[in-house]
Amino acid sequence: MFFASYPFAQFQAHKKEINDSISKTLKSGNYVLGDQVKDFEHSFSKFCNVKYSVGVNSGTDAILLSLKALNIGSGDEVITVSHTALATLSAIISSGAKPVIVDLEKDFLTIDPHKISRAITKKTRAIIPVHIYGQVCDMNKIMKIARENKLYVIEDCAQAVGAEYFGKKVGSIGHVGAFSFYPTKNLGAIGDGGMVTTNNKQIANKISRSRQFGWDKNRSTLEHGQSSRLDELQASILNVKLKYLELENKKRINLAKLYRSSINNPEFQFIKSREGCKHVYHLFVLKTKKRDLYLNKLKKEGIYCGIHYALPAHKHNGYQKFCKFKNSNLSITNSICNQVITLPMYPELKSREVKKISQIINSLL
Ligand SMILES: Cc1ncc(COP(=O)(O)O)c(C=O)c1O
Repeated sequence: MFFASYPFAQFQAHKKEINDSISKTLKSGNYVLGDQVKDFEHSFSKFCNVKYSVGVNSGTDAILLSLKALNIGSGDEVITVSHTALATLSAIISSGAKPVIVDLEKDFLTIDPHKISRAITKKTRAIIPVHIYGQVCDMNKIMKIARENKLYVIEDCAQAVGAEYFGKKVGSIGHVGAFSFYPTKNLGAIGDGGMVTTNNKQIANKISRSRQFGWDKNRSTLEHGQSSRLDELQASILNVKLKYLELENKKRINLAKLYRSSINNPEFQFIKSREGCKHVYHLFVLKTKKRDLYLNKLKKEGIYCGIHYALPAHKHNGYQKFCKFKNSNLSITNSICNQVITLPMYPELKSREVKKISQIINSLL
């Protein structure tokens, strides 16, 4: 049996080191914002090539706290996409701001920079490009638009830790990067976790305070905050796994290459990988017009594919009324959700398994 992602295999791959690291933390008696979180923040900054990393409770909170740190909230607009996890929109809505939904680049399924320019109003404060599936957005164009219009850029890096845009790591390009360590992610915890990266000391300090009620070092407060700390045990696991991330991303890239060279069924189309950039294949997604038929056929063969995403976030009942959008401007977003199918992709997947899955896909009529 194969699944689209398989976090248990990740645990097994590093079982001894993870267990040892958890045990060390348990013995330390220091369970909240201790050495493990500090070490992880330090290593993560190095990994992303940024000055500051602040560990928080989840990727959703990483976006929410970033918006709050930039004083974005009620009355403001934030431009993003809705071909993403609900989390992206959830965070914007929780901040009080209005998500403004724009369409995707057809080839890459990332935010279309041309559509961003057209959506800017007097209320626009920020852009949240989502590096979907592990593929980086067209950041040069996005940063240029942001500069010209004095907007902040919060990169949603939840699916793309380690991805690069012409040599620059995601999370180091915009004003802020927001990461998730949800167990299925390329760098997954065994529970929830998130990180904010930035080169701006003020933003980093503000988030360090707001993840703990607004406390400064002396536990006095200037502004209100919330409780959103990266858990010490999760950090102890992430400290182990970060060491293997580059290698594991490389394995994903090689498996993706193999899928690309092995699948030749004309009913399936690949999503292009941006030239000069490093795609880290959090998910390996194909397009097909017969998605639901093939999903069932593959399930019968023991291949449990995923759908990312079956419904654009702005069409969810609980979200629609908070968003600004024009469906006639979202033709790619609204059509792609019926075509995408996520194949098994995780570093422990074997080449022969990818070949077998590809063969089965090639035999589908
Ligand atoms: C694109 C995207 N943004 C944000 C998030 C939020 O992360 P978390 O689940 O850690 O809150 C996720 C993960 O689910 C995601 O895939």
